[in-house]
Amino acid sequence: MGRNTLTVTDNRTGQKFEVAIERGAVRAADLTSPFLTSAGPGLVIYDPGLAHTAICSSSITNIQLAPGLLEHRGYRIEDLVENSTYLEVAYLLLNGELPTADQFADFQKALSTRKFVHENVKSFIQGFRYDAEPMAMLAAAVGALGSFYPDAGAIEDIDARASQIMRLVAKMPTLGAYAFRYGNGQPFVHPSDDLSYTGNLLSMMFRMSELQYRPSPKLERALDVLLMVHADHEQSAATTAVRAVGSAHVDPYAAVAAGVYALSGPMRGNADRDTLRMLRELGAVAAVPAFLERVKAGQDRLFGFGHWVYRAVDPRAKILRAQLDTLYEDRPASPLLAVADELARQAADDAYFLSRGIYPNVDLYAGLTYEAIGITQSMFGVMFAIARSAGWIAQWLEMITDTEQTTVRPRQLYTGPSHRPYVSVTERS
Ligand code: ACO
Repeated sequence: MGRNTLTVTDNRTGQKFEVAIERGAVRAADLTSPFLTSAGPGLVIYDPGLAHTAICSSSITNIQLAPGLLEHRGYRIEDLVENSTYLEVAYLLLNGELPTADQFADFQKALSTRKFVHENVKSFIQGFRYDAEPMAMLAAAVGALGSFYPDAGAIEDIDARASQIMRLVAKMPTLGAYAFRYGNGQPFVHPSDDLSYTGNLLSMMFRMSELQYRPSPKLERALDVLLMVHADHEQSAATTAVRAVGSAHVDPYAAVAAGVYALSGPMRGNADRDTLRMLRELGAVAAVPAFLERVKAGQDRLFGFGHWVYRAVDPRAKILRAQLDTLYEDRPASPLLAVADELARQAADDAYFLSRGIYPNVDLYAGLTYEAIGITQSMFGVMFAIARSAGWIAQWLEMITDTEQTTVRPRQLYTGPSHRPYVSVTERS
């Protein structure tokens, strides 16, 4: 049995050194510090996108590429979805264990009393243009929340920190729903004490003049499942943004706002929308073979397929696909579902996709599920951000309590010019 080390030889100088391998990783500092000089690091790790760099140790979420596995605190997402609720999963992410009945009752109570927002937050949202993107309103509103709590920045204070965590989890649905109502020109709906977390979200979005709004249990459950499958996904771009911004010791509202902004970009947050657009453009199963040929020729992208980590079917895609059957039990299914299924069927039989590890991801069925619940496309990102806020806050908490973590401050390979003589404006050509 060999040693758990890596021996590195610098062939420029013949210098040789041994680096420890722990948990399948080498420390970048061990690799680079032998080259430290008074002029600088001498050698750095070049990893654009950090795709080959573990930026933290984390005990929250485990993803494995093949077979596609997603676990939170050791529990498989399939088991959580079958037996739990989003709020229980949020508790698990934040606290490391599933709650006892008493712990859960306390958690729900603590959230329930914190789900309201200051009246000025409403005015803040009302200051946006009538057609502002709900994600822009949500990001700005959650960032602004920090200014409402004098202890928001006391991130070393355990009690203050606990308050911010509960406030964030409790208020994200309220902010998201208010952004939706404002965009629709509808009055805000106050959160209600007699609805679940997810039922309240539906009520705040869809309640009109009913004396007592009761969401359909099936739709409430479907949205709860959507929230559960989006609750955390280890070091995604948005989570990395939360950790990076949080590492500067900003208040957690600002860190979560960074996550919302990251999610609003087309590389991630809009993939569910792009998938729906693609399905609509295809329109029918008959269009699938020609489309896949265009994808293989590099003329089109197959949205809802492929993933940075998974090299198998994303387990969340399977969960949402099964749920669509339940949602469509008592009404005709969207014709786009058949198109999505046919894409999955043909891609699973095609060497091009198999050899590249391109399988269905969560977005193949997420947009269809939102639409089946009645949630419009402009709100897909907001729903994702509400769901992911539990994961972001858990990751933020883990980061600021991890003694190994420091302010994120990467290096670069400078490629620009140096030592240029300054040219005055009158002499510039
Ligand atoms: N459609 C067509 N070709 C694809 C796709 C796709 N969806 N995904 C990967 N490929 C091809 C690439 O063109 C490349 O081919 P090549 O080797 O001939 O050049 C090869 O597969 C590897 O592609 P990469 O871009 O290196 O793979 P990566 O793992 O970085 O891509 C990504 C991941 C960006 C998610 C990609 O699969 C993609 O664009 N998917 C569509 C958009 C989408 O659904 N996004 C949601 C992601 S899931 C999530 O965020 C939860």
